[in-house]
Amino acid sequence: LGKPTGVLFVSDSNVAPLHGEPVRAALASLGLTAGYVELTPGEEHKTVSGLCQILQGAFDISLDRKGLLVGLGGGVTTDMTGFAAASWVRGVRWIGLPTTLLSMVDASVGGKTGVDFHTAKNAVGAFWQPSGVICDVLTLQTETERMYRGAISEVIKTALIGDPDLLTLLETQPEALLRREPSLLSEVVERSVRVKARIVGLDERELGLRATLNLGHTIGHALESAGGFSALTHGEAVGLGLIAALRFGERRGHTPRELTARVHDLLVRLGLVHRLDEQALTRSVGLLGKDKKRAGSAVRFVFARGLGDVVTEAVQLTELEEVVPSLADPAG
Ligand SMILES: NC(=O)c1ccc[n+]([C@@H]2O[C@H](COP(=O)([O-])OP(=O)(O)OC[C@H]3O[C@@H](n4cnc5c(N)ncnc54)[C@H](O)[C@@H]3O)[C@@H](O)[C@H]2O)c1
Ligand SMILES: [Zn+2]
Repeated sequence: LGKPTGVLFVSDSNVAPLHGEPVRAALASLGLTAGYVELTPGEEHKTVSGLCQILQGAFDISLDRKGLLVGLGGGVTTDMTGFAAASWVRGVRWIGLPTTLLSMVDASVGGKTGVDFHTAKNAVGAFWQPSGVICDVLTLQTETERMYRGAISEVIKTALIGDPDLLTLLETQPEALLRREPSLLSEVVERSVRVKARIVGLDERELGLRATLNLGHTIGHALESAGGFSALTHGEAVGLGLIAALRFGERRGHTPRELTARVHDLLVRLGLVHRLDEQALTRSVGLLGKDKKRAGSAVRFVFARGLGDVVTEAVQLTELEEVVPSLADPAG
């Protein structure tokens, strides 16, 4: 498609002052007419009206089909920028510049874009692949400790699904990981992206294999929403969801106990939430049926059979609801 005719730069008011300048300078050096939209940070602003702000920016600079959108920020910004790109003049190119660990290892890979609609997360969106994603791990130095740490759960999940060496890497260098050592982070991000890209490449529209990326998320999501989306961050909930899924797998004869122990030890060493609370699990039971991967009265649950070996299996909602509170007890 060649050189873009115009560029709309999108970021948010937390990220732009910290990391916006080099991007602006790079766009200016290309001699491109650039517009700028600054979003209000936060999931609660991942809305149709936030999307309208981006579309307004595109309108104001008369961005045409050969234009480009560039989104700098966390998953909220990149998901919204991607969706604006999918819908503006029926689709323009976009580039993602993720600045959180979660958005580097998860949100920026796979082409799912969108916004929330009332309580329905990511309910309005499109599959629209970016033309490029650039992960500068130095931007992670300014991410909050809680968000950064939580996102490590997604990396552990990714390692379990498809990269045994990545798990070993995390286990051997937990201090460097917590210090956000750039060379280690580059490898962690690259390996995580490779696993997700491989899976998405085989199943872009989530007809089967892509669902394995949901490991730890069925119970994790229920715990996250039982906590009103504030008691636990998404990453923290996924860490707990992983432990729960591994224990459930043990009881169904899928998961070796050593694997659960390994993941549990790693979460402890990384200072991640790892204690499954029976009361919280009980509160989450009623929310299990809200799982997006639900099919009728059953849920497609992802089990780990070993490192790099996951399977999905239909589990009756009634069985899941019965077993979940008991997962607080490692011995069952
Ligand atoms: N498209 C996908 O496949 C996919 C996958 C996973 C998650 N997601 C989406 O990603 C979103 C979550 O992304 P997130 O965890 O990055 O949250 P986020 O985008 O809300 O960012 C978290 C906070 O950190 C700030 N921030 C971002 N980068 C920073 C930096 N380098 N330094 C300081 N502050 C910074 C942001 O302004 C925001 O306040 C959710 O909306 C989720 O639905 C999408
Ligand atoms: Zn997740």
